[in-house]
Amino acid sequence: MPPVPGHIAIVMDGNGRWATRRGLTRAQGHAAGEKALMRVVEGAVEIGIRHLTVFAFSTENWCRPATEVGFLMTLMRRALRKHRQRLHAEAVRICHLGRRTGLPPALISEMEAAERLTAGNDRLILTICLDYGGRTELVDAARSIAEAAAAGTLDPATLDARTFARHLYAPDLPDVDLFIRTSGEQRISNFLLWQCAYAELVFVDTPWPDFDRHHLRQAVEVYATRNRTYGTVEDPGRSPEQSAPRRQPCTSTTEP
Ligand code: FPP
Repeated sequence: MPPVPGHIAIVMDGNGRWATRRGLTRAQGHAAGEKALMRVVEGAVEIGIRHLTVFAFSTENWCRPATEVGFLMTLMRRALRKHRQRLHAEAVRICHLGRRTGLPPALISEMEAAERLTAGNDRLILTICLDYGGRTELVDAARSIAEAAAAGTLDPATLDARTFARHLYAPDLPDVDLFIRTSGEQRISNFLLWQCAYAELVFVDTPWPDFDRHHLRQAVEVYATRNRTYGTVEDPGRSPEQSAPRRQPCTSTTEP
């Protein structure tokens, strides 16, 4: 049995282009993207993935036309209400990652209802990044650390990667093993910058609305062929199966 990534992060890109190619509206592309997400969650449960984190709305996405932003907020609010019982029945836990302050209160309350309902589940932890930006997360962590230092509860001399990680939005979210971006672009785009330090990157041409459990399985198969050395050297005496990707960073997943 090839190694399965514990944590998959996905940039769900290409809804707009998918729609435009079909003469549909961008809104229809996002609606198709919602369906794709539900298929992929099912696929992740089947494969036995522990953490699935998806980029649903970035800090930069606020710059889109107000109508598209409004549509996305409504779509996600309705989707959370529509799917949360089914996800709960599959023992999926739903979590939010990002800032809550700028999001519409109605969306926050749907998210909180989903988080409360599914809090006891642990088959798959589905983290939905909404109003999330990797740099903003790091800046917020730095601010929290500076405040702790000013308050005298943290000695700056003792700050290391492990302590830093405790100030991220979700300190228990593990490092990403497999990063997937759909629709042909080959960028990280400010997604989980800290957590992706050692992620294996897989870029696929399929636009997000067409992505399904088979594409997910294919990406997991590509991951299984990767040799994760974490900056060390390959031991020539070990076969690829013996050495990687089971290998772990020598200190912790959050140490540089
Ligand atoms: C990127 O495609 C996609 C988004 C900004 C939105 C993603 C949202 C969903 C898939 C719905 C998720 C639903 C829930 C419940 C979280 P794009 O618009 O940038 O596509 P383009 O690059 O082709 O224009």
